[in-house]
Amino acid sequence: MGSQSVSENSHLLSRIAAGDGHGENSSYFDGWKAYDSNPFHPVSNPGGVIQMGLAENLLCLDLIKEWIKEHPEASICTEEGLNYFEAVANFQDYHGLPSFRQALARFMGKARGGRVSFNPDRIVMSGGGTGAQETLAFCLADPGDAFLVPTPYYPAFDRDFCWRTGVRLLPINCYSCDNFKLTKAALESAYETARKDNIRVKGVLMTNPSNPLGTTMDRGTLKTLLTFVNQKRIHLICDEIFSGSVFNQIDFLSVCELLDEEPSYDKSLIHIAYSLSKDLGLPGFRVGVIYSYNDTVVKCARRMSSFGLVSSQTQHLLSHMLNDDDFTSKYLAENKRRLHKRHEEYTSGLEKFGIKCLPSTAGLFVWMDLRQFLKENTENGELELWRVIISDVKLNVSPSSSFRCTEPGWFRVCFANMDDATMHVALKRIGDFADKVKDETTQLQQKKRFNKKLRLSFCRINDGGITQHLMSPHLQSPQSPLVKASY
Ligand SMILES: Cc1ncc(COP(=O)(O)O)c(C=O)c1O
Repeated sequence: MGSQSVSENSHLLSRIAAGDGHGENSSYFDGWKAYDSNPFHPVSNPGGVIQMGLAENLLCLDLIKEWIKEHPEASICTEEGLNYFEAVANFQDYHGLPSFRQALARFMGKARGGRVSFNPDRIVMSGGGTGAQETLAFCLADPGDAFLVPTPYYPAFDRDFCWRTGVRLLPINCYSCDNFKLTKAALESAYETARKDNIRVKGVLMTNPSNPLGTTMDRGTLKTLLTFVNQKRIHLICDEIFSGSVFNQIDFLSVCELLDEEPSYDKSLIHIAYSLSKDLGLPGFRVGVIYSYNDTVVKCARRMSSFGLVSSQTQHLLSHMLNDDDFTSKYLAENKRRLHKRHEEYTSGLEKFGIKCLPSTAGLFVWMDLRQFLKENTENGELELWRVIISDVKLNVSPSSSFRCTEPGWFRVCFANMDDATMHVALKRIGDFADKVKDETTQLQQKKRFNKKLRLSFCRINDGGITQHLMSPHLQSPQSPLVKASY
C-alpha cells in the first residue's frame, strides 16, 4: 500500500478521512494497543499485560451458552430451526422482527426492576450503543451544535456522537469533593459558557449508571436535569446501557420512571440509548436500541437504522431467548449476584493495600483512586504513573484524563472481563506495586529527615562560628565526624 502525506490526504480525501476525529490517539486506546502487543495468558504469557480497560461482561456467558444448547430450535443453523431459514434469511425490514422488538421491550422493563414498561413501537434498532448514539446525534443536532456532558465521561462518545456528525461535546465539570455528582451550578455554568462562546446547546448527554464511575444518579439530580432541559427546551439523552448491571437494584432510577411519575415533564425531549452489549454480555451481536418519546425522532431514526441494522439471524435467536421469561429473570438476578461478588472481592482486595475506590453499585468497573501515588498533581503526573502501570505493573487501566476528568490520579479499572484467577493476579500486581511505592516513599522520607537533621546540625555548628570550614566539600563526606555526630 502506498503512503500519502497528511497534506496530500487533506486534498485527496474528505475532512473525516484525513482528520483524526476518531480519537484513536488517546491514552484510552493506547492502553489497548499495549495489551494487544503483549496480552497476558496464565500459561503461555504469564508476564503479559492484563486487560482491565475493556468494559466487557464475561461473568454470565455460561448461562447464555446453556440456554442456546437447550434451545436448538431458536437458531436457524440447526436441524430443529432450519425451517425458519428462508423467512429469516430474507427478512430485511428496518422496523425489525416484531417478536424481537416485543422481547426487547420486555427485557428492558425487567432490567429496570419491572417498574417501567416500554412500547415496542418506539424501539428502534442500531448497530450497538455506538450506533444509537450517532443516530441520536444526527436526529437532534446539526454540525457545530453541542451537547453538554458531565465529566468524567465514556471516552468513545467523542467518536460515537461527534466524529461523523460534526456535533460537539462540551464538558460539565464534576469533582471528587461532590463524589463526582452533577450539580446544578456546574450545569448552568457549562450552558452559560457555551452561550457566551456562541455555541448552540441542543441537549445534555449522560450515562446512568455512569461509565466510568459505576454510580447511579439520585432522584434529586435527575429531577434537576429534567427541569433544566424543560426550561431550556433542549434534549436529554440518557445512556442506560448498564441499567441491568446494578448490583443494588433499589439504587437505580431510570429516567422513564420519573417521566411516569411526573407527567409535567415534556417527554418529547427525552431519548434513551440502550444495548445488549453489557447487561447480556453480547457486544459482538451489535444490538443497540434507541428509545425515544419523540415521534419524529422515532420515525427518522428508524429510517436511518438501515445503515446499522441488527442481522435478522441475531434478532431471531434473541427474540426466542428474551421471550423466555424464566430465563431472563434468572439471568438478570444471577448477573447482579456475580457482578456484586466480583466488585466486593476486587474493592476489598484493593483496600488491603490502602487503595480506595469511589463507592459504586453498578457497572463492570470501579473508579480507583491512585492520587497518593502521583509524583505531580497534573495530567502529566497522571500519565507518568499510567505508563508505569502499563509497562512495569503490566495492567491496562484507563487514566482519568482520557475521560476528560480534570482531577488527575483516578483510573477506571474493569473487573468483569476476566476469570477469578486473572483477577487475583491483577490484585497481586497492584498490591506489589503499592508496597514498592510505599517503601520507596518511606526511604525517601527517611533520607529527607536525615538531610534536614544534618542541615540543622550544620546550622548549630555554624552558630559556633566555623563557617569557613563548613564551606569545604570534605565536610559533606559520610566519613566526616560532623555528619556522624548528627545521627
Ligand atoms: C456508556 C456506553 N455507551 C455506549 C457504549 C457502546 O456500546 P456498544 O458496544 O453496544 O456499541 C459503551 C461501551 O462501552 C458504553 O460504555
